[in-house]
Amino acid sequence: MHITRRHFLGGAGLAALATQFPSRALARQDGFTDLVAGPSRQALFQPDGPASDLWTYNGSAPGPEIRVRRGERVRVRLTNRLEEPTSLHWHGIRIENAMDGVAGLTQEPIEPGESFDYEFVAPDAGTYWYHAHNKSWNQVARGLYGPLIVDEDTSPFDRDHDLTLVIDDWRLAGEGTLDVASLGSLMDWSHDGRLGNWLTVNGRAMPVQTLNAGEAYRLRLINASNARIFEIDPNRFDAQVMAYDGQALPKPVRLSYAPLTIGPSQRVDLLIVPDAGSDFKIEELSGDTPFAFAGFEITGVPKGQPNLPSLPPNDLPEPDLAGASTVRVEMTGGAMGNIGRVTYNGKVLEGSDFRDTGQVWAFNGNANLPEAPLYSAKRGETIIIETVNNTAFAHAMHVHGHHFRVIERSGSEVDDGQPWRDTSLIGPQQTTRIAFVADNPGKWLYHCHMLEHAAGGMNTWFEVT
Ligand code: C2O
Ligand code: CU
Repeated sequence: MHITRRHFLGGAGLAALATQFPSRALARQDGFTDLVAGPSRQALFQPDGPASDLWTYNGSAPGPEIRVRRGERVRVRLTNRLEEPTSLHWHGIRIENAMDGVAGLTQEPIEPGESFDYEFVAPDAGTYWYHAHNKSWNQVARGLYGPLIVDEDTSPFDRDHDLTLVIDDWRLAGEGTLDVASLGSLMDWSHDGRLGNWLTVNGRAMPVQTLNAGEAYRLRLINASNARIFEIDPNRFDAQVMAYDGQALPKPVRLSYAPLTIGPSQRVDLLIVPDAGSDFKIEELSGDTPFAFAGFEITGVPKGQPNLPSLPPNDLPEPDLAGASTVRVEMTGGAMGNIGRVTYNGKVLEGSDFRDTGQVWAFNGNANLPEAPLYSAKRGETIIIETVNNTAFAHAMHVHGHHFRVIERSGSEVDDGQPWRDTSLIGPQQTTRIAFVADNPGKWLYHCHMLEHAAGGMNTWFEVT
């Protein structure tokens, strides 16, 4: 499915909206911030267009920005006002296992009407996000996600120069409302996931933000879509990359290639110092025609040289490749692929089982979580996961509770110097090797963040003892 303005705009034309990026502050009570997951209505297509029936945190998608300083405690009381169980995952945070929010692995699902208190220290500064982690393919697609920003000890950007862009790819139907009927389509599960046809930033179509010429801004891009791999070209608007998946690069980097891919759940922090009069749009380039999703109007003239802030890196444990254990994960299945012999919930699937269970992908012959872990690591051990993609699709592989370095892609070095990541893209028929120190005790997922792929089998887990 392609995103096209033409399809949804009809003859209306696109009027630039002179709105600043919406953002909302949160009130805290008794030390806990309340997040209420429940149904709400929101216009996605155009602000005055028809409203969609969404599921959101505190009444809007994205949910409120949760913001703490590095080393501070996050305290969130999640109340479930949905009609199905839920849980809340803090994506990319090195967190105590009991707070990781994976229903069925690290906690019981939170039943309708119940609450759960999440409380943890945010150890690393950077751009993170939170989202539902029970039937995520359904709950995230309906709007259950929001940004989690952890500030550096002293923030190098003040709040006017530090902008969060939570980008989502929605599938709209009819007059431009969320296409609910196609949720769970096996076609999506077995191909490239639920792709949409409309993009929003912080819940709004094509918001326009005013920036002052000559001042340095940090743009935090968060890909909250179920399955779309965004492609953007930061060189088109003279931006540099400061951080991937929350982790700062040693210094900002101008990319020597294009496009920059931002897979589902990945984040990129960009640094930009706009020139006078250099209005620009950020465009998504993966479709047939570029799709502009965020606009910037530049005012004023530069007053001298800006000081270019750089971000202090977080202190992550460096993998010890010499002493590492290598774990192999072979991905099979999907359309145009051969899944081989598959075990699901202890039973070998055959014939119509695939259709009935929706299991269409496997890791090492297992669809979804096997009883035994993929690997059981001793705390402090370096793990190399070698992932072999024997499918016809790209995947966005996410490790819970740890950041890793991509050390090799199909036998070649990684072009941008092995940055830390919590999710990495792997192309069809590619092999990647990632390395990290398994230093966080508990049970952790390794799964595809194309949420239909995860639901359709692409989930496994490892433990750290
Ligand atoms: Cu962003 Cu398993 O999650
Ligand atoms: Cu996938």
